[in-house]
Amino acid sequence: MDTPRPIVGRASKPGAVAVIEAHLAVLKGKPLRAAISEALQKHASLGGNDRRFVAFAVRELSRHMRRLDLSAKARGRAPSTLALPEDQAIFRYALWRHEFTGADVNRVLVEVGLPGPVRPRSMPDAVVREALSKDVVLDFGDDPLDRAAAKHSFPTWLATAIAQVAPEGELEAVLEALNREPFVTMKVRPNGSRDELLPTLLQAGFPVRACDESPDAIQLTDEGRAIFDSRWMKEGRLLVMDLGSQLLAGLCRAQPGQTIVDWCAGAGGKTIFLADAVGPTGRVYGHDLSAKRLAEAKSRTGELKLRHVSFPKEPRLDLAHLVLIDAPCSGTGTLAREPDQKWKLTKAKVAELTKTQLEILDTVARGVKPGTVIVYGTCSLLKDENEGVVERFLATHPDVVADGPALRVWPHRLDGGGFFGARLVKR
Ligand SMILES: C[S@@+](CC[C@H](N)C(=O)[O-])C[C@H]1O[C@@H](n2cnc3c(N)ncnc32)[C@H](O)[C@@H]1O
Repeated sequence: MDTPRPIVGRASKPGAVAVIEAHLAVLKGKPLRAAISEALQKHASLGGNDRRFVAFAVRELSRHMRRLDLSAKARGRAPSTLALPEDQAIFRYALWRHEFTGADVNRVLVEVGLPGPVRPRSMPDAVVREALSKDVVLDFGDDPLDRAAAKHSFPTWLATAIAQVAPEGELEAVLEALNREPFVTMKVRPNGSRDELLPTLLQAGFPVRACDESPDAIQLTDEGRAIFDSRWMKEGRLLVMDLGSQLLAGLCRAQPGQTIVDWCAGAGGKTIFLADAVGPTGRVYGHDLSAKRLAEAKSRTGELKLRHVSFPKEPRLDLAHLVLIDAPCSGTGTLAREPDQKWKLTKAKVAELTKTQLEILDTVARGVKPGTVIVYGTCSLLKDENEGVVERFLATHPDVVADGPALRVWPHRLDGGGFFGARLVKR
């Protein structure tokens, strides 16, 4: 790396053990969030700074895996030459600390040197010391797409798919942004109260700023995680939500008194956003395939006493002014939060997702009455799931038309993830 990046939290030997264990669990297929939370539960004696480091470092190892393994190869220690997955994971962690965060070899060995961390292990400290002491120049190859993919640690097929839609000359900036630790963004509630709350939060010592792009959005500009335990969070004045997610929900342009169906409500983030916008004279009906996520949405809206939100088994689409479809997708716009998905996603999985997205659009379009707006959105960057789905859907549904230009939120232009949204209307 040219310039080492600051680490989040504090690195330590017990922290390194937890990171490497969680990374191994991710490689075996466990979702990254679950792997982090299990490792933190197991290593319950770690303090707050160590815990923050663990979560950050586990994300980093997934983010930079391809490049780290290329560097390992250049140092004569390609993963395939190390006997155990544990050796490979320890070596990857050591390289990341050295190359990405600037830790020197002695510091790295404090964290990964024997005795510990992680058993079984067959790699002696001398292997790490010798490999990290070498000066290497990485060879990313000659093909421009392959180079960008290797440099920013993406599978080449995924970098190629992103390149199809990225603004001209901006592919590397997009990939780089997807590898950056995202800021925490929140929506201030009730609507319109941001200017009143912001000075109070600043006075209380929270490093926050207003986001110009969305009327109620604020962002933590630095480490200020105590805000999660603050009274404003407990009182429901703050809703954690990516900026891109707020812009997508904003595309609904929900008005007081309207009836809205949130067809893929998940854990209810956008349901709450929409409930705030329609106010107590309106109604929001939440729906989702996953009973577990719906239970969470019910509990969140219940805690906030949003009595105009309900979750009927089969919401009446024909009563809606607007239906939001926050569709299941590849999540390629939010890889900064879920970097393990880079390596788990396949072209076949994307094709399956587009099929589901078209099915959901078809179900909703059949159920709504003329004049109803359908907002279709994803947190994907891929054309197939976005413009591609909308084009295919409109081609087979002449009674539905586009209502204005689509929304594209690019992660390198706005610290808010990558999102897409299209407003459609049934004639
Ligand atoms: C992107 S998430 C929704 C996130 C949510 N709107 C929020 O703001 O927190 C997509 C959701 O679609 C749900 N889902 C998947 N297939 C579905 C289907 N056929 N019909 C309805 N919901 C579906 C998933 O369970 C998942 O919760």
